[in-house]
Amino acid sequence: MSGKIKAHIEKLRKEIEEHNNRYYVMNQPVISDFEYDILINELETLEKKFPEYISEKSPTRNIGSDITKEFTQYEHRYPMLSLGNTYSEEELREFDSRIKKTVSEPFEYVCELKFDGASVSITYRNGNLFRALTRGDGNKGDDVTANVRTIRSMPLKISGKKVPAEFVIRGEILMPRAVFNKLNEERIKAEITPFANPRNAAAGTLKLLDPAIVSSRSLDCQVYFLLAEELPYDNHFENLKEAASWGFSVPDSFRLCRNIEEVIQFISYWESERKNLPYDTDGVVVKVNSLALHEELGVTAKSPRWAMAYKYKAEEATTRLLSIVFQVGRTGAVTPVANLEPVLLSGSTVRRATLHNSDQIAMLDLHLNDMVYVEKGGEIIPKIVGVDHSFRDKTFKKALFISNCPECGTTLVKNEGEANHFCPNYLHCPPQIKGRIEHFISRKAMDIDGLGEETIDLLFSKDLIRNYADLYALKHEQLVPLERLGEKSSLNIMKSITKSLETPYHRVLFALGIRHVGETVAKTISRRFRTIDDLINADPEQLTSVREIGPKIASSIIAFFSDKENIEIINRLKQAGVKFGADQEAVKTGNSLNGKTIVISGLFLKHSRDEYKAIIEENGGKNSTSVSGNTSFILAGENMGQSKKEKAIELGVPLINEIEFLKIIDED
Ligand code: IVH
Repeated sequence: MSGKIKAHIEKLRKEIEEHNNRYYVMNQPVISDFEYDILINELETLEKKFPEYISEKSPTRNIGSDITKEFTQYEHRYPMLSLGNTYSEEELREFDSRIKKTVSEPFEYVCELKFDGASVSITYRNGNLFRALTRGDGNKGDDVTANVRTIRSMPLKISGKKVPAEFVIRGEILMPRAVFNKLNEERIKAEITPFANPRNAAAGTLKLLDPAIVSSRSLDCQVYFLLAEELPYDNHFENLKEAASWGFSVPDSFRLCRNIEEVIQFISYWESERKNLPYDTDGVVVKVNSLALHEELGVTAKSPRWAMAYKYKAEEATTRLLSIVFQVGRTGAVTPVANLEPVLLSGSTVRRATLHNSDQIAMLDLHLNDMVYVEKGGEIIPKIVGVDHSFRDKTFKKALFISNCPECGTTLVKNEGEANHFCPNYLHCPPQIKGRIEHFISRKAMDIDGLGEETIDLLFSKDLIRNYADLYALKHEQLVPLERLGEKSSLNIMKSITKSLETPYHRVLFALGIRHVGETVAKTISRRFRTIDDLINADPEQLTSVREIGPKIASSIIAFFSDKENIEIINRLKQAGVKFGADQEAVKTGNSLNGKTIVISGLFLKHSRDEYKAIIEENGGKNSTSVSGNTSFILAGENMGQSKKEKAIELGVPLINEIEFLKIIDED
């Protein structure tokens, strides 16, 4: 018996550690917080009941670690603990009673919303942002200072009467839901696995190695805790207000509560109200206000005794899994979708749920006919979060992932490190053909008006198009008789197909739909490889010598042009008159720098200096090497020349950094 329990405890620990890694390091959790908390709870109960198996290394005594080898680690001056949590009012009242056993005098609580992001701890010295660390393993964290410095709501310098010479401020790095949705749309288009939720997107962004990309993701930081040898006030509430007056973003939702009843009122008020906030929140943090009482109550191995998180449960329902169907997206990614017995969940009937990918099906160990828990989290599409095993019957068959594409029969492929299976038959798999043509005609590519998703479907079903070169072979007489089209629409389509022949080379490159070649990369390529033949003949070394083109993009370009069919399509496009070379003078892509004289100085992250010179010309600007009264601004990189800097200050010429510059020309 005891051997069995020991084995079960070990299995639970291993499982929890795996989830910790998925959550904190990979930013790709496969279970909900609620399910995770159930696992921790089960382990805690077992360890309490069988103390002989207690281990210092158990995840019940250690917090999950986000440490990664790409960053330098530093010790936290004050360890970063985690919080005890509960989903029940009863347990919250028990927390209150426990405190009352130690504390005899009256005391207050501070209630704050629990924002769902990635926590950071930021040290300020003499009013300057000195260092930002992630939570790490609680004792030491990853140095993400360069990234945190790009967050606009994080002051680089502060002042105020009561600012301690050195202090630590803690907060949550967040991504607004609107930014998250846009980012995921872009990722899906670029065939990069989308983030599961804004928390993962924020945590993933915080660990990027290029601060310029971090800056473009509009992260925010809301702070909730101030630490120093000597704090302005003896209570948390006033310290938070003080931090707000120094310029930190403190959410205005925090409240002082005189007793647990007021705490519960706060919790029930925000249960629905939180949905109107721009950020995801997953509960309320209840903290004792007096700092002296923090000392008195102390901490356990993992969390303080003076604070508790009350977590809102995501709305959940139980229903039967009827079948799993597999959808092939326009990029070839295969997504499993569950058909469910219809069930009512927070006001609407749910019939289908997404299963994301094969890992998800395996993790859940789904069997057809299982009774499953369906949850509506922050996302709109409900998901299956667990199985009620008590309903499982021997006759239930294990749900298997398919090995062939349901649309074209090709054997599916799963790349190392990617979550989704995909169909590699991109030239002949129907949804992918249509997807590529839709991309080709889209506004930022060939901009062919009058052809939408529906018309493409129609032309495809009539066998009139099989690839984008076929568009240029279409004839007015073929289109007129088609339902929904007629004389006028047909003429419009023909006209805009002809007009698309004027599309500049860099946009044609983007239109081809080479994996990982987005608008910016296409522009960069067009500067270096002035004709399509130069590009077709480029070897991997020539490709990767261009900044911004790494091995992944290079091998995708090589693969694209090694396909004979693509070359044939390109030849047909050439014959039709599509532009496959840059015009003699620089490609004019914008007017944002018209009449401006610009001096470049220093080192840059996103483009080389030569590329910036070209970009300036392409946008109507003029390059100059010396700073004078005529200089409109200096594009200033890292370590810019000292003499240029002094001259600029003397003449009042503005310095614009790389990120600001790219915003001006609207590249990001
Ligand atoms: S206080 C010892 N306050 O929740 C104090 N944490 O599960 C510990 N969090 O790691 C933190 N909002 O990332 C605190 N208002 C808030 C919070 C908050 C979100 C996060 C934080 C922490 C985790 C604990």
